[in-house]
Amino acid sequence: MHNPKLKVIVADLSESRIDAWRSDALPIYEPGLQDIVTDIRHDENETPSKESRQSNLHFTTNVKDAINESDIIFICVNTPTKMKGSGAGSAPNMRYLESAVLAIAENATSDKIIVEKSTVPVRTADSIRTLLDANARPGLKFDILSNPEFLAEGTAVRDLLYPDRVLIGSESSPSGATAALTLENLYAAWVPRERIIHTSLWSSELAKLASNALLAQRISSINSLSAICEATGANVQEIAHIAGLDQRIGAKMLKSSVGFGGSCFHKDVLNLCYLAESLHLPEVAEYWHGILKINSWQRERFARRIIHKLNNTLTGKTIAVLGFAYKKDTGDTRESPAISVVQTLLSEGAYVNIYDPQVTPAKIYEEVAMPAYHDHIRISANVYEAATGAHALAILTEWDEFCSGDAPTEKRHSVDSGFASNVATPATKSPASSRSVSPSSQKSSEDGKARMDWAEVATLMKRPMYVFDGRNVVDPAKLQGMGFSVESIGQAL
Ligand code: UDX
Repeated sequence: MHNPKLKVIVADLSESRIDAWRSDALPIYEPGLQDIVTDIRHDENETPSKESRQSNLHFTTNVKDAINESDIIFICVNTPTKMKGSGAGSAPNMRYLESAVLAIAENATSDKIIVEKSTVPVRTADSIRTLLDANARPGLKFDILSNPEFLAEGTAVRDLLYPDRVLIGSESSPSGATAALTLENLYAAWVPRERIIHTSLWSSELAKLASNALLAQRISSINSLSAICEATGANVQEIAHIAGLDQRIGAKMLKSSVGFGGSCFHKDVLNLCYLAESLHLPEVAEYWHGILKINSWQRERFARRIIHKLNNTLTGKTIAVLGFAYKKDTGDTRESPAISVVQTLLSEGAYVNIYDPQVTPAKIYEEVAMPAYHDHIRISANVYEAATGAHALAILTEWDEFCSGDAPTEKRHSVDSGFASNVATPATKSPASSRSVSPSSQKSSEDGKARMDWAEVATLMKRPMYVFDGRNVVDPAKLQGMGFSVESIGQAL
């Protein structure tokens, strides 16, 4: 992937963010990321001898120079959901994109290829063109391409190196085709050309929203079935396995859970609803709203199940929450289902001990945003501290260390959940303190990954020891054999 002739400049207005990217402690946790930004030299025996930053990778806050030096400019700014004004609550906020385009228009002194990397509404390229025409120096040529980002957090590096597809949308003109080929050649350094797809700008812009909405829809569909399973005695893991064997359905993204989270699914489905409403298609908007409704309902249902099993009163009881990130292998908490579950537990009067290997205490307090209940939240340094004196334990993120060893149904059926990462997970290091599983209690499983010791947890909890597994990562039979009462998603035990 390394092309010594190519210079890559990452420009951002935020000095603290650029400083963090320049430092040894990168601002985000992502397995394999450190290796991407590091140039590892080997000695004559092929052993790594010297590590330094990739010499062609530069981080800067000098946006003007970065624009001038570049032939291709990727716009990668945030497009969060608008919080006020027209479209508040569902339309994307385009102000960062607009200011990036204006910066290009005002500073460019040569022709540029501008690539939309951010998730943008369909026909955004039209608005970019209008801004450039009105503000750039006359005589300059700008080609606009759409190249949406499909990588998922936690597997971002793997998704980057081995993508299912790279999508390039371009204007239907000779100049558009040349620009698209230039971008294709960039990717072709590591992606087989048959995986690089060319479409119109509008299909490419819509494809990102469409893909995320369809993925979110699968999770809400299986989650709606999980409720039927709990009421009937069927098992959602078996249902997902059987359905997934039908190649037209496929096995991925069918893992029932406490609900999906993350910065993309919720926002992108909302964007699609907004688009449908603006196109006067209320039935379409309502259909996609239903996907989000099931997702909130699944979170509430999980919290209500905890309350119900604990005799409808949580006052003064302690619940250990294992995992706060929206999925494993990331410290990201945006739209995490843990937020609303913890909020419900707190408002029922519970004390909540929270342990997550990657999320900082400050982030947890900020997300829960219930200052009046802060003395009811205890941030734990490891699983055992969280479990001490707890009446129940709720697993809200599928971190490997929370699995009970043999992943139950997955192992029996080899279900490919779409969760599994082939990227080696480095030993997780807490950003806050020495918050990791104490080595004496750590168990290793067949896959060599550290696991919590459930036998030790059993000595720490109050009886009856409830385990609410929001990610179906424990083997209920195994834990029941150890004296736990297990409540899994989509399984009536
Ligand atoms: C998603 C898309 O997968 C990616 O292509 C796009 O570029 C960005 O949005 P991401 O949000 O990082 O990526 O994670 P993803 O792995 O898709 O998971 C999203 C949420 O769904 C997580 O909360 C995850 O726990 C949940 N999930 C995923 C399930 O509940 N069940 C599943 O089977 C898969």
